[in-house]
Amino acid sequence: MKNNQKKFHASRRKELAKLIGKDSIAFIFGNTVINKSFDGNYQFKQFKNFYYLTGFKEPEAALVIAPNGIKFGKQEKKYNEILYVRPKDKQREIWDGARVGFENVNKELGINKALENTRINNLMNIAWLRNFTKVYINFGEMLKLTQKSAQWVRALIDSLNIIAAHAEVIDISYIMAKLRREKTKEEIEKMKKAAEITINSYNKTMKEIKPGVPELKIQALLEYNYKSEGSEDIAYHPIVASGENACTLHYELNNGIMKDGEILTIDSGAEFEYYCCDITRSFPINGKFTKEQKEIYEIVLRANKECIKRIKPGVSFNKLSKFSWEILSEGLFKLGILKDKKKIGNYAVHGLGHHIGLDTHDAVQAEKKLGNNYEILRPGNIITVEPGLYFRNDMKEIPKKYRGIGIRIEDVVLVTKSGNINLTEKMVKEVRDVEHMMKKD
Ligand code: GLY
Ligand code: MN
Ligand code: MN
Repeated sequence: MKNNQKKFHASRRKELAKLIGKDSIAFIFGNTVINKSFDGNYQFKQFKNFYYLTGFKEPEAALVIAPNGIKFGKQEKKYNEILYVRPKDKQREIWDGARVGFENVNKELGINKALENTRINNLMNIAWLRNFTKVYINFGEMLKLTQKSAQWVRALIDSLNIIAAHAEVIDISYIMAKLRREKTKEEIEKMKKAAEITINSYNKTMKEIKPGVPELKIQALLEYNYKSEGSEDIAYHPIVASGENACTLHYELNNGIMKDGEILTIDSGAEFEYYCCDITRSFPINGKFTKEQKEIYEIVLRANKECIKRIKPGVSFNKLSKFSWEILSEGLFKLGILKDKKKIGNYAVHGLGHHIGLDTHDAVQAEKKLGNNYEILRPGNIITVEPGLYFRNDMKEIPKKYRGIGIRIEDVVLVTKSGNINLTEKMVKEVRDVEHMMKKD
């Protein structure tokens, strides 16, 4: 791992140590391999919190943070961060690839102390844990672990009721969510790169959109282009939804055939070094929007642009979401589609967006004021802005010419001290630009 990368992860561990405080200890378990079928497994993916703190991408690992330091055996030296990793195993490494091994952790990852993962049991015993006032654990993730990790955590679970009588036992997710809320310079660079890869790939793939082509082919091309451009993984399963399929928000089948006169809504993002992008655009399948499609598209585009304009520190994300619904309802009211503006929720079925970073839906902590959950934006937040309108074929109350249209326009926006930077600005979205880009020369 490069030095600046080591420094980044070390700085995250230091911040975490500050937040949990001196008399605490934190156990953060890494992910294990998940079985797909028979002896086939899903590709291994590290938990994002674990990655944030370590940069370590092997299964069956655990990180312990003890701000006051821990002594091992008769040694005088105290360690405040310990990484438990799989032992080296010549035979297994022939099959599964090289393991870092505890001997090399310090050099490779810059973490002070490392041990074989089987030894973590020594730390998880009652007599010892009662030395701390608070014990932090990533419970939600820990309970999903399989293989050997499941055996180690079993002991912890079995004695949890006793441990909990002597020390406050707390889930670490809340603190991690606070830590991950404002992105660092290094993270912003990765988010920019994920955006660049995604935009380049959309641009290459757009040319292949035409009547008669399967949605699945567009998905395959996008994923091919992501990997060709330097991405290791997709941020989430791409949504490639033509016609009414776009009205199913998390449509993942992608098994339709694109039809002349319909719209194709693509919602997809590349992942770059564990950081996610998330772009949605709606394309006319034959290269030209119809009058009605354009009318709806322009309303959604206005909501997207007006909301982005207003993004700056201190703005409430919830209020911005309401503002986007006002623009959408006003537009539909003018077109005569919506008689009662309060019914906008029937057609704009989701909120304005979400925080994004290591996870596509980054679970960051919200500001809480007066008992309400006001999400006040701060510099370093990265959010999506994704207004959409969806008219299913069974919506008999709206004119027929608008039915079967689903349009969403989504960008990724960084909140800065003075306002914002749209990280996906280079992705075309004006009607004339989209139509121009789709021309098959
Ligand atoms: N791709 C999921 C979302 O836009 O939230
Ligand atoms: Mn999306
Ligand atoms: Mn999104």
